[in-house]
Amino acid sequence: MISILVVASFAITLRSFAQQPSPETNKPQTDTKKTTTPQQPTPPAAQPDVSKNTWELPADADKTKNPVEATEESVAKGKELYLAKMKGNCVFCHGETGAGNQENLPKLRRTPADLSNKERMAGMSDGELYWKISKGINGIMPAGEKRMTEEERWHVVNFVRTLAKESGVIN
Ligand code: HEC
Repeated sequence: MISILVVASFAITLRSFAQQPSPETNKPQTDTKKTTTPQQPTPPAAQPDVSKNTWELPADADKTKNPVEATEESVAKGKELYLAKMKGNCVFCHGETGAGNQENLPKLRRTPADLSNKERMAGMSDGELYWKISKGINGIMPAGEKRMTEEERWHVVNFVRTLAKESGVIN
């Protein structure tokens, strides 16, 4: 009888201990700008509303320097990664030219940005591109860092640059 009591009280202690970590502590810095409903754990079965999700990038993302020179070789590697299903698979949404994959458009939750738009792309530093490709947008664009190394992502940046270059502005 006593041993049962001991076990039971031990179990209770354990349980209250397990409840201690607050669910609000897992994401320290990224939530600053969120206006959407805060920290409600979504039940696994529910379809989360991702329509307002946006980039969560480091504050100095645009200042990150590109360590990989945009050689022909780098651009070629970037293109391969852009097209490869198990790597970037960017082509699925952005299409071969960067202007959007018309065929898949109806399946997408959000219209992809036009990577061939020279004004738009000229306004973005390599660092910003790199971080957007790395982090993606939850539920909208996959995080490239899960399937590509840092170096690979820089090759992708170098390739993406050529998509807008064809219209003659960034040189
Ligand atoms: C599932 C579809 C999807 C895939 C796959 C995808 N993207 Fe995107 N991408 C989007 C959407 C949608 C946006 C627009 C997001 C927004 O609302 O700002 C976007 C935006 C971008 C932007 C930002 C452009 C801007 O003006 O802010 C870049 C750069 C980009 N994608 C590059 C890539 C690259 C490179 C890959 C592959 C590594 C890739 N994307 C894979 C859907 C996708």
